[in-house]
Amino acid sequence: MKNLYVISGATGMTGSELVHQFLKTGDTVLGFDNFFASSIDTVEDVVGNPAFVFHEWDLDNSEHMASLKKEVLSLKEQHGKIVYINCAAVVHTEHFYEVEHTYTTNVVSMRAFLQQAVEVGAATFINCSTSEVYSMQSWNDHGGVKEDDFLVLATAEHSQRTSYAVGKLMTEFFMKDAVDKGLIKGCSIRFANVYSKHERFAKHIIPHIINQFIQGGGNVTLLENSKTNKRTFLHNIDSCNAVIELINSPDALDGTVYNVATDEEISIVDLTRTIAKKMGIEKPEIVFEGYRASDPERRLLNTDKLRSRTHWKPQVSLSQGLDLCIASIK
Ligand SMILES: NC(=O)c1ccc[n+]([C@@H]2O[C@H](COP(=O)([O-])OP(=O)(O)OC[C@H]3O[C@@H](n4cnc5c(N)ncnc54)[C@H](O)[C@@H]3O)[C@@H](O)[C@H]2O)c1
Repeated sequence: MKNLYVISGATGMTGSELVHQFLKTGDTVLGFDNFFASSIDTVEDVVGNPAFVFHEWDLDNSEHMASLKKEVLSLKEQHGKIVYINCAAVVHTEHFYEVEHTYTTNVVSMRAFLQQAVEVGAATFINCSTSEVYSMQSWNDHGGVKEDDFLVLATAEHSQRTSYAVGKLMTEFFMKDAVDKGLIKGCSIRFANVYSKHERFAKHIIPHIINQFIQGGGNVTLLENSKTNKRTFLHNIDSCNAVIELINSPDALDGTVYNVATDEEISIVDLTRTIAKKMGIEKPEIVFEGYRASDPERRLLNTDKLRSRTHWKPQVSLSQGLDLCIASIK
């Protein structure tokens, strides 16, 4: 019997890739998005597929969520397993500082979505948390931070940024609580720096660099933080695969948390030079301007837990992923 996947944030980077993968396996997908940070473009090739139901709905809107519940219940009998995946979030860096909005969508509405999953009798709930929870201690010199490391958080004394991380951290408690009470199976996922070829309008670093090179010849403006910052980048094919691997690994759905990241660390300056080279720009000119508080210099995640409990490993190298991004934007 086919499964029913209910996906919030279904046109976002991870959500849209999940939509495509589940349709390939012949399952039904019920997805929605309010287009806060994406558009229908990411799934337009499957709009019209009878196995894909899409609504422009808002996770924060109780009427929309009541309609969703009704629709899930009407589809329940024809499906084996119901899986809820919460990809919707106020996520982009510039919004990390918007305390009210992140709290409403990322915490209050996540909790309501989880409750709905329990009420409709869903088997599984996947909660997208974030590697931002590692805050100021997000790397070490012995293989990266682990899920059970104690946290060192920047606070409101430093900047509002951590409100995003703390909200997501709270969702990990809701997830664990629901599993411990036997209400549902599931887990939380801490992604690190997801990117995709669809991320064109976002202000994340990769589309930002590509767009600036397109608009300004060989010039790009980066934050002062970029003089020292290094990051790993996770292609959305790999963030999606992690979700699927976890869903298909029942023992892993114990309510706990999984890091999902690559080991390919690169400085932002080298990332800029790499993109320039790929775009045929010989001598990129980098201007440093502005500063972002509470932005850790590095974020290195240990992924042993995910790799030991599932078959997940990254499929898309940074070089391949950048090629895909450049090809789609040019
Ligand atoms: N992108 C990253 O680097 C990153 C890192 C760590 C964790 N995450 C988490 O992973 C999950 C998936 O994010 P993504 O990488 O696909 O980012 P994304 O921004 O591409 O996807 C999030 C989607 O949620 C939608 N959305 C936002 N508010 C909504 C609302 N109220 N109702 C309905 N839809 C809404 C947006 O329009 C967007 O399409 C999120 O929970 C995010 O917090 C992302």
